[in-house]
Amino acid sequence: MASLTPIFHQRSYLYEAQSVTRQSQFSSSFLPRNLPSWSGFGGISRMPLRMEVAAGGGVPVVEATTAEKQKKRYPGEAKGFVEEMRFVAMRLHTREQAKEGEKEVKSPEEKSVMKWEPTVEGYLRFLVDSKLVYDTLERIVDNAAFPFYAEFRNTGLERSEKLAKDLEWFKEQGYAIPEPSSPGVDYAQYLVELSEKDPPAFICHFYNVYFAHSAGGRMIGRKVAKQILNNKDLEFYKWDGDLSQLLQNVRDKLNQVAEGWTREEKDHCLEETEKSFKCSGEILRLILS
Ligand code: HEM
Repeated sequence: MASLTPIFHQRSYLYEAQSVTRQSQFSSSFLPRNLPSWSGFGGISRMPLRMEVAAGGGVPVVEATTAEKQKKRYPGEAKGFVEEMRFVAMRLHTREQAKEGEKEVKSPEEKSVMKWEPTVEGYLRFLVDSKLVYDTLERIVDNAAFPFYAEFRNTGLERSEKLAKDLEWFKEQGYAIPEPSSPGVDYAQYLVELSEKDPPAFICHFYNVYFAHSAGGRMIGRKVAKQILNNKDLEFYKWDGDLSQLLQNVRDKLNQVAEGWTREEKDHCLEETEKSFKCSGEILRLILS
């Protein structure tokens, strides 16, 4: 397991924009503000603040009240940070996409998948751009500019190789594979930049891309296969192992990472959800192009 060396640090990257590109700089700039140490994975994890107070024999009654208030303030918080991310994401769906959705339908891909009229060419554009996004996410965690990214290597959720096989299959069927288009190219570039300077925001995209694909993504896969691919089961929608267990393993790791974040860093991560929907929405729209 990778570990972060605890380093005393006074500044948070959230308050001081900096463009750093080397690992040695990352490990120190990612430490939450005003904390004596944080070791992340593989070391002694920082305890949640309310536990520290209780364990330190301070004033647990008052602190428990504060903790209770916090639970009410952040929906899902009691279950862990992933539940907070999920809560924000579900609200950004339209009612036509998911039961918990609240957003108004504004663009074609936000309508019910049942009403979609996909084309093979459009679907291929979607697969090519999706592959670029997964290639990028998987390269980012392989390179692990911030050491804790390495925890998200080989989760079993990776899609890059699966998509390569699918594109090969389309080629064998006589289809020309297009070059990636701007939705994928721009998103990939954005992910690289974010991963280097803003880990909580990057983690928001990481979560949304992989978890969206395991939920709505599979619905889309079934619908498109039925309508235009003669029910061909693409590799993109197959996982080696039990998908719900793979997802749970990643949820656990994400929760563990976020335990070391300040409330500001968590909020910053949640605020990035809208951008994540925008970028993925543009790629989804390619299916209907
Ligand atoms: C046509 C587009 C989409 C459809 C039809 C769709 C549909 C769904 C559905 C049905 C669920 C499961 C809800 C449940 O657990 O009961 C879901 C979950 C989710 N979706 Fe979407 N979605 C779409 C697009 C997106 C996009 C663009 C994102 C963000 C990039 C996204 C992020 C998520 C996340 C994070 C979850 C939670 C997954 C989990 O808890 O395991 N979805 N979606």
